[in-house]
Amino acid sequence: MAETGQRVPTIVENEGPGLFVSGSPDEVVRLEQVHRVYHSGEIVVHALRGVTLSVARGEMVAVMGPSGSGKSTLMNIIGCLDRPTRGRYWLSGTDVSTLSRDDLADIRNRQIGFVFQSLNLVPRTSALENVALPLVYAGLPGAAQVRRAREALAAVNLSDRERNLPSQLSGGQQQRVAIARALVSNPAIIIADEPTGALDTRSSLEIMEILQRLNRERELTTLLVTHEHDIARHARRLIGLRDGRVSHDAPVEHPLDAAKGLEELPEEVEQDL
Ligand SMILES: Nc1ncnc2c1ncn2[C@@H]1O[C@H](COP(=O)(O)OP(=O)(O)O)[C@@H](O)[C@H]1O
Ligand SMILES: [Mg+2]
Repeated sequence: MAETGQRVPTIVENEGPGLFVSGSPDEVVRLEQVHRVYHSGEIVVHALRGVTLSVARGEMVAVMGPSGSGKSTLMNIIGCLDRPTRGRYWLSGTDVSTLSRDDLADIRNRQIGFVFQSLNLVPRTSALENVALPLVYAGLPGAAQVRRAREALAAVNLSDRERNLPSQLSGGQQQRVAIARALVSNPAIIIADEPTGALDTRSSLEIMEILQRLNRERELTTLLVTHEHDIARHARRLIGLRDGRVSHDAPVEHPLDAAKGLEELPEEVEQDL
């Protein structure tokens, strides 16, 4: 890395002198005592209550926890959609916890790729155009937009569907388009919040096969929120959240291989989706 001056600082001048933080250059995400408190009217919700964690480049992490435990809140902060109420967050060595909304949006567009459970493609717009959209916003020339969108669609095995509208794709294919769109700006991190939540077993495994392949081949750091143990076991590290705190953080003992899982899946009658 050239810009060594911008790496995670070894000394953090937080409230009080001499709080030492040992940062490695491969650390992509570092949270220190992150809190997030929501105020809606009279009601105060303490959604995150002091989360400290570090994720290195190339890790594949699953996040599990009961509904309401703070998973989406955590992903929104890591993904620069939201800021901590209290605590610090470094993304690729930059302290982003105090950035303005505009600066946060800028970092988000360059460094984060999101995939959500709800299929949020633009209707009546082809798969290729959906994938190219972030590049349109980034002001890339048209030819480069098309080339990179094609590459991203190829990475999710959808080269033959680039002209299809979302309504002409199955749920699993739409989610693969969403992954291609998340990939196209070459982010440092992919954040997938329940990406298989609405999908059948085969489509879920196809999504996991793609995420595992991208993680392996491109060292793409991947954070995956899921309800399902069988999905979480495709990651190499499992973080549990409970009541806004990390309740578990350990390697997955024998991670599953989605490509193998797909091979072993019994043949099924072709379904109309
Ligand atoms: N925008 C918001 N305003 C107020 N409360 C919220 C908001 N988003 C989430 N919460 C609350 O914060 C807690 C954590 O929510 P969330 O992070 O969505 O959990 P999870 O994704 O694990 O289900 C819940 O109690 C939820 O109701
Ligand atoms: Mg959620």
